[in-house]
Amino acid sequence: MNERLPISSHLKPTVAVYGAAGHTGRFVVKELSRRGFTAVAIGRDQAKLAAAEFPAGVRRELADINDPASLARALTGAAAVINCAGPFLDTAEPLVSAALRGGVHYLDVTAEQASAQAIFERYAAAAEKAGVVVVPAMGFYGGLSDLLVTAAMGDWTRADGARIGIALDSWRPTEGTRVTGRRNTVPRVAISQGELRPLADPAPNIVWPFAEPFGAQEMVELPFSEVVLIGRHLQLSELHTYLNTAPLRDLRDLATPPPVAADASGRSAQTFLVEVEIRQGNTMRRATARGRDIYAVTAPLVVEAVDRILDNRISDKAAAQGGVFAPGALFDAQSFLAELASEGVFLSIDPDQPLRARTSRQAAPTGGGGL
Ligand SMILES: NC(=O)c1ccc[n+]([C@@H]2O[C@H](COP(=O)([O-])OP(=O)(O)OC[C@H]3O[C@@H](n4cnc5c(N)ncnc54)[C@H](OP(=O)(O)O)[C@@H]3O)[C@@H](O)[C@H]2O)c1
Repeated sequence: MNERLPISSHLKPTVAVYGAAGHTGRFVVKELSRRGFTAVAIGRDQAKLAAAEFPAGVRRELADINDPASLARALTGAAAVINCAGPFLDTAEPLVSAALRGGVHYLDVTAEQASAQAIFERYAAAAEKAGVVVVPAMGFYGGLSDLLVTAAMGDWTRADGARIGIALDSWRPTEGTRVTGRRNTVPRVAISQGELRPLADPAPNIVWPFAEPFGAQEMVELPFSEVVLIGRHLQLSELHTYLNTAPLRDLRDLATPPPVAADASGRSAQTFLVEVEIRQGNTMRRATARGRDIYAVTAPLVVEAVDRILDNRISDKAAAQGGVFAPGALFDAQSFLAELASEGVFLSIDPDQPLRARTSRQAAPTGGGGL
């Protein structure tokens, strides 16, 4: 694929990116520049910042996560900051604090449940006081599933249960993913009987009948930050997230190399399919998204979010007073997801289906934790 042309030439606000020299941070800086934002690339390592290839006009700023003065300096003049420096258990709270002090909107891309949960619990009041919008977990794991579940819910305000099935054809992890995996030892939670409860031990295994080309996949229940987001704004009695086991084998193999660009956009050849099923009574609603490269796709997700926040295309409550929000509570989920088609993410929302007339693709799970 050829390098895409910038889609906007008029000047938009300045958006800072922390962890900008990392794999995901570089995608985010590039996407901001492509969409006409002035990007500030912030990092803790002078040499890595200097070596990173950013689009023309991107300013570089050095700031240590444990040095509030350096963070304040780096955020000066920015309307929003996107945190791409994980483990977020180490970086989210100091950067949210700096953003609130500076009156700067904050977004991050955490997949770590505990970091997203801490932001909701500890910063909601301060964000409202500062009139700042804070959105944790606006990445592939987290925000995308939250938006899909919200879009599939449509006019339902509550549901008996939801399942999220994530299929990856492979997973070449970045160093950041490996470090985060080692750092994040907090036990995972799912929603059961309407509450966040510890994931069953051992985690349930099921077979998920995905659409082609994935087909039937062996899955294990593995909830990420989407559970925290969804639990904040939708009433679900059950919510269970499953990942196919093949990419987990890649991830657990220390010999698996990091992702490599498969074309000029920098995206790898990795493909994903996310299927969401929601049940209310005897009716099933479904939504799916498919695309390429879970790291690269995080950039259009979080940049679309920042664009909407800075453009006031957000819920009335957020626009009026700020606070900590799940993407599904902040944005119009369907139009947000539809916007991603230009980034190679394809969405479908199926019409209601009677639960008893399941097709083979919608067969019941073979293990626990299902609908
Ligand atoms: N939710 C999702 O779907 C999603 C998608 C993509 C990424 N992520 C998460 O985002 C994080 C980064 O991933 P990546 O692929 O970009 O990894 P990466 O290429 O290794 O980059 C990580 C970046 O974070 C910086 N960093 C890490 N800890 C820091 C700290 N304590 N203080 C300051 N900077 C710090 C690193 O700086 P140094 O180079 O100086 O170490 C580096 O710039 C990971 O936690 C990953 O799980 C989540």
